[in-house]
Amino acid sequence: MEALLSSSPTLRLRPPLPPPSSTSKPSLSISTFTPLSTTTKTNPSFSRKSSHFNPRPCLRVCASSSSRSTTETAVESSTVPSQMKAWTYDEYGGVDVLKFASDATVPDVNDDQVLVKVIAAALNPVDGKRRIGKFQATDSPLPTVPGYDVAGIVVKVGNQVKGLKVGDEVYGDVSEKALDGPKQFGSLAEYTAVEEKLLALKPKNIDFLQAASLPLAIETAYEGLERAGFSKGKSIIILNGSGGVGSLTIQLAKQVFGASKVAATSSTRNIELLKSLGADLAIDYTKENFEELPDKYDVVFDAIGKTMSLMELDEVRASWPEHPPLTKMNKVKKNGFLDVPIYGAGEKAGKVVKEGGSMVVLTGAVTPPGFRFVVTSTGSTLEKLNPYLESGKVKPVIDPNGPFPFDKVKEAFSYLETNRAAGKVVVYPVSEDYILEKLAQ
Ligand SMILES: NC(=O)c1ccc[n+]([C@@H]2O[C@H](COP(=O)([O-])OP(=O)(O)OC[C@H]3O[C@@H](n4cnc5c(N)ncnc54)[C@H](OP(=O)(O)O)[C@@H]3O)[C@@H](O)[C@H]2O)c1
Repeated sequence: MEALLSSSPTLRLRPPLPPPSSTSKPSLSISTFTPLSTTTKTNPSFSRKSSHFNPRPCLRVCASSSSRSTTETAVESSTVPSQMKAWTYDEYGGVDVLKFASDATVPDVNDDQVLVKVIAAALNPVDGKRRIGKFQATDSPLPTVPGYDVAGIVVKVGNQVKGLKVGDEVYGDVSEKALDGPKQFGSLAEYTAVEEKLLALKPKNIDFLQAASLPLAIETAYEGLERAGFSKGKSIIILNGSGGVGSLTIQLAKQVFGASKVAATSSTRNIELLKSLGADLAIDYTKENFEELPDKYDVVFDAIGKTMSLMELDEVRASWPEHPPLTKMNKVKKNGFLDVPIYGAGEKAGKVVKEGGSMVVLTGAVTPPGFRFVVTSTGSTLEKLNPYLESGKVKPVIDPNGPFPFDKVKEAFSYLETNRAAGKVVVYPVSEDYILEKLAQ
């Protein structure tokens, strides 16, 4: 695996990743990132010939009319169609429940919302956990258009919107609460309606692809560090420093909070990535047990976590004999997924916290002194962090297997759900129009 530190403020990795047992040595080099040409080449399905907006009535996904209020007063770009392409599912299950709709209804905006023409979107593990029904009790009703992260252009504004206007380039996490009533019509669609307060203006120096990779992950990193009371001069260990959240947590701890020491874990292939992001100590979990090392930290940030298929169960049993009895985890879903994430760092994480320190756990079991939280989406966090993105002190980290074009969302989810992504899995381009306009310029 080779990581590329580009002259634009993106850190990209390439090429496709070997399995975690690999001992191949990664290396670093400098390169320029050109997403448009790359994506255009790999995505012949986006052409003028392909039908864009299907005039047939909505079959699968219709925005609830009860949430409409301001069509008369909203300021709107003249080009907003009534139907759009969107990924959707109307039953819980694996990746196969995802369906592509060409005739989903473009959502209308509430007073406090803007309609965003989606240029790029990113995937998060929570999309998969939600899709398999893990959060059914608090989920919004089916059918669902998945997707939390968006970057795009405002094409319509509700009449209470004060700070954004048609034409603004924005990014954000479209669901204020990730698990509690997340948005029914998310970002894996050509248009998505988002509350103004969840968005920020996209930093000018990053493109839409880069911007889409950030919101949920960087907001989680920031909120976790704040809740842990992290501050200048403190030390931290980030368990899973190479994933979407961890890769940004390393950078925020160092560049924004002023950490005295940042340690992070990953498998061999991602060790160079951890160092390139600013980790002072990169621990290869295939060779060392972090909990057996002498160092203790003010904060432990446990970002390990996966909901696992039954087929993987034997693997876990074999590799982690001390794992809690599986009988506690026997709520098996009919689609073959377990009801709980089966592993995180668990009790091991607590062994490296200094006395009086704190431990953030993103998912899985929490043992003292750990605490878990669920990220709250807010544009104000992005606004706060925009200067660090603009200065290049904090860089988006994009998995090299992407970007996945809009018609390859199933493949993108399948890849994310291997739990091996390094940085973010991004879907780009979502808007065919945008690419055609760019090509015409
Ligand atoms: N509570 C919240 O608000 C919140 C918010 C965001 C995310 N989350 C949860 O936090 C977890 C991480 O999210 P994410 O987006 O960062 O996931 P991700 O990007 O899918 O994480 C993938 C990374 O995990 C690493 N990894 C896997 N097993 C590991 C281990 N045992 N030790 C160290 N690293 C390991 C992999 O590195 P290798 O290939 O090198 O092993 C890979 O780079 C997910 O469960 C997610 O649902 C919770």
